[in-house]
Amino acid sequence: MVISEDAIELRRMVADARRSRKLVGCVPTMGALHDGHISLVERARAECDFVIVTLFVNPTQFGPKEDLQKYPRPFEADCDKCRAAGVDFLFCPTADSMYPAGYSTFVEVQGLTDQWEGAVRPGHFRGVTTVVAKLLNLTQPDKAFFGQKDFQQQAVIRRMCRDLDMPTEIITCPTLRDSDGLAMSSRNVYLSPAERTSGLSLSRALLLARDKVRSGETDLRAIRLALRAEMEQTPGVSVDYATIADPDSLMELTEIAPRMVALVAARVGATRLIDNMLIP
Ligand code: PAF
Repeated sequence: MVISEDAIELRRMVADARRSRKLVGCVPTMGALHDGHISLVERARAECDFVIVTLFVNPTQFGPKEDLQKYPRPFEADCDKCRAAGVDFLFCPTADSMYPAGYSTFVEVQGLTDQWEGAVRPGHFRGVTTVVAKLLNLTQPDKAFFGQKDFQQQAVIRRMCRDLDMPTEIITCPTLRDSDGLAMSSRNVYLSPAERTSGLSLSRALLLARDKVRSGETDLRAIRLALRAEMEQTPGVSVDYATIADPDSLMELTEIAPRMVALVAARVGATRLIDNMLIP
């Protein structure tokens, strides 16, 4: 596995791979890799011949009061995990090379970013789409792999690629959960044992909503209230949003639809958790 911060070396190796007619896959990450990330790499490995992981803690997607400084950066462990998963190229650019002095271009997806995470974290998606556009330009992948855990993120990136005629196919992979149901996230390391227990209310609420639909409940307002109540009644949990939306437009639904996604976000202590579940 090549580990490099050098965009020229990356481009050279991608060009070599293309000349050999290899299918190129990219897994963009901010590091602190867990099994959820590794499942994306495994999917990329299964579908592509040359697999790139990008590791970059992107400053433009963090708000001024967010955890950029304390975001976990276990670089050696991340390298080991990528090597073990069969990554070909681990691209770890510096912030100065991604955003040199005078940097002034940003990519913004409108509408889809107005609600949910976009409303709670102003500017977040502008940072995400800007960096993902740059990483896709640098790596030129046939396919890029993202987790369903960040449901709005994958929808926004999909829309960006479509709107900007970017040729990369966006693949969304299922959320991985710990055995207790907590969705895997690099931020779970911030949780104390008590907070972790409280954090389980998110996946419990999602299952409750799904089960209500399955058992024939058609009053979406009642289901939404139950979704929120399950989290709110858990000590230490402060709900940001709890909704049932259309999986493509992310608009809140008022009536049962063939495809729905339940989206939740809450603060547990100082940590923000998000989760979601598709309800077919
Ligand atoms: O999901 C993440 O880890 C980040 O938002 C991403 C897509 C790598 C962009 O920095």
